[in-house]
Amino acid sequence: MFFAHERRRRGVRRVGVGVAGTGRMGRVHLANLTRRCAVAELACVFDADPDRAAAVAAEFGVPAAKTFDELVERCEGVVVATSTGSHAELTVAAAQAGRPVFCEKPLSLDRATTVSTIEAVEAAGVPLQVGFHRRFDPDWAAAAERIHAGELGEVTLFRTSLRDMTPPDPNFLSGSGGFFVDVTVHDLDVARWLVGEVVEVTARGAASDPAFAALGDIDTAVCVLRFANGALGVIDNSRSARYGYECSTEVMGTRATVRVEAPRPVEWRTPGLASYPLARDFEERYPAAYAAELDAFARSVRDGAATRCTGRDGLAAFDLALAATESWRSGTSIAI
Ligand SMILES: NC(=O)c1ccc[n+]([C@@H]2O[C@H](COP(=O)([O-])OP(=O)(O)OC[C@H]3O[C@@H](n4cnc5c(N)ncnc54)[C@H](O)[C@@H]3O)[C@@H](O)[C@H]2O)c1
Repeated sequence: MFFAHERRRRGVRRVGVGVAGTGRMGRVHLANLTRRCAVAELACVFDADPDRAAAVAAEFGVPAAKTFDELVERCEGVVVATSTGSHAELTVAAAQAGRPVFCEKPLSLDRATTVSTIEAVEAAGVPLQVGFHRRFDPDWAAAAERIHAGELGEVTLFRTSLRDMTPPDPNFLSGSGGFFVDVTVHDLDVARWLVGEVVEVTARGAASDPAFAALGDIDTAVCVLRFANGALGVIDNSRSARYGYECSTEVMGTRATVRVEAPRPVEWRTPGLASYPLARDFEERYPAAYAAELDAFARSVRDGAATRCTGRDGLAAFDLALAATESWRSGTSIAI
């Protein structure tokens, strides 16, 4: 119904996606929709800053909608990559207009709003996918498949590291929901995905940079998890690792252990030294994952395929992030 004849290329019916929010993350999606995705393609953009929207529309060769409603009209599925505070309202508006929604994490900074958003989307009967990109990265997905097939035996230990090279813009930080909701939430989702439900969270945090302390936030944290199946987990996170962007995991089991590290496209060996390049940010580290999550979204729009990362998954990870925040503030362990 939506210009399907125009979107059919080499026998593949591509799904026209509208992107709301054309900042740091929105641009990652725009680049993927234009260059990497096989099923999803860019149909239209919208941003609260009309000058930014117009510039991005010209750059990517698509129309800029004047309103969010116009964006919804012009597409088959909506990507919400706006500042976190607007996710819930835009997601509900798109769903009630009958459009499936891909929403960046988190759905909201408020739990009640997160729940009412999920319920509104469920009532509208459209798919909702939350932006936990690691679930779509080929290496992480392959590890998950073998873990879920039981190749590790009983999982005993889970570890993840997520470290940014440099902190984001201070303007972003003030509306981010804080360290655990913005950063650790990715690892908490991965913990549930790879190992299972978490029953206890203990978190400690520190602000090595006074700018974070001034915001009442932290830039370094460690979380200890206890899983329902008896396994233990540890997550370490930093906003400014300085050497590069790191995102890695290790899951240990009674029969095997799996590690997912950054790929090494090239390694130089010189006397007494091996060196290889490190990714600088999430975009450089995960080009395939960010494209694959949008293609998965497009398949759920086009074919009704089940969403691999639902609003309920977003809520569960958000609840763990809130527990981590409470643990850090209170100095206690939080039972889930
Ligand atoms: N999945 C990931 O790996 C990942 C990484 C970074 C950011 N994010 C998420 O992406 C979202 C955006 O983050 P960012 O770093 O791109 O922020 P950003 O500040 O760079 O960009 C946000 C954009 O949204 C626009 N905007 C704000 N409110 C709007 C509204 N109501 N309607 C239309 N446009 C609006 C702003 O004008 C801006 O262009 C955040 O929720 C963040 O948590 C996810």
